[in-house]
Amino acid sequence: MTRHLLRDDDLSPAEQAEVLALADELKRTRHTEAAPTPLRAPNGVPRAVAVLFDKPSTRTRVSFSVGVAELGGYPLVVDGGASQLGRGESVEDTAHVLDRQVAAIVWRTFGQDRIEAMAAVSRVPVVNALTDEFHPCQILADLQTVAERRGALAGLTMSYLGDGANNMAHSYLLGGATAGMHVRIGSPESFQPSPEVLKRAGEIAAETGGSVRWTDDPSAAADGADVLVTDTWVSMGQEEEYDARVAPFLPYAVDDDALARAADDAVVLHCLPAYRGKEIAGSVIDGPQSAVWDEAENRLHAQKAVLIWLLEHS
Ligand code: CP
Ligand code: NVA
Repeated sequence: MTRHLLRDDDLSPAEQAEVLALADELKRTRHTEAAPTPLRAPNGVPRAVAVLFDKPSTRTRVSFSVGVAELGGYPLVVDGGASQLGRGESVEDTAHVLDRQVAAIVWRTFGQDRIEAMAAVSRVPVVNALTDEFHPCQILADLQTVAERRGALAGLTMSYLGDGANNMAHSYLLGGATAGMHVRIGSPESFQPSPEVLKRAGEIAAETGGSVRWTDDPSAAADGADVLVTDTWVSMGQEEEYDARVAPFLPYAVDDDALARAADDAVVLHCLPAYRGKEIAGSVIDGPQSAVWDEAENRLHAQKAVLIWLLEHS
């Protein structure tokens, strides 16, 4: 069976732990002779990984390009507008063309239904590099970062303030619950997480000893948090709604007051790009509790681990 990473709950708790352990090992052994090169074919020729973008990207583009190269492969980066996908060729036809030539398909696109359709026919692993609904690669990097700082994940409280209905909130719910964390989402009532995701995350948390909670009270969400995290209030594709979206989120900013409510040694995360003075204060993201540059670097290690793990299990 071909394994894919389309949403965070595609990895069981044990599988997520394996991927995170592998990410740590890859970080330790980077640039050494112990670093694995599974994308190098026996004849020495690199195998390609397609990395497709229907939306802009800095971190995902760089980390998958560098990561595939470091695994001995060839990153074939294609922007949506430059492929026939951008002119209406079907997702399924694209998958049939790609999976005969590449070892894996990484895709950043809009609706989750598109990447689900790709995975339904692809004979090689498909990795979600962000959809409107989920961003599972980011959460693995975030979990790696928290574990580096705090030693373990289970039992920690991870509080996300901001747009509870976006991809990051959904992935924190599923990925954090999978790791046995207590995930709190603080958002305006009109930007709540999807009921399906909240329910699924609750089921996972019941197995792992974690918990999930939504509240519209930003102070209650931040109180005592071990990890304090936010994301842009205006995700890619929502630019035209900018003016209408900012006002409801103002009380949910991760500022000095929110940080003061969190645990003294709380770790601050932000997937980036960040908008200082909006969802996060400059004093917080550039302050001593911020781990955002480690978080951005860990995209590289976590995604190399995902690719290795999926290829080994497919
Ligand atoms: N965090 C993240 O996915 O960044 P990019 O949009 O720059 O890839
Ligand atoms: N929620 C943001 C995440 C960016 C990495 C967006 O989708 O634009």
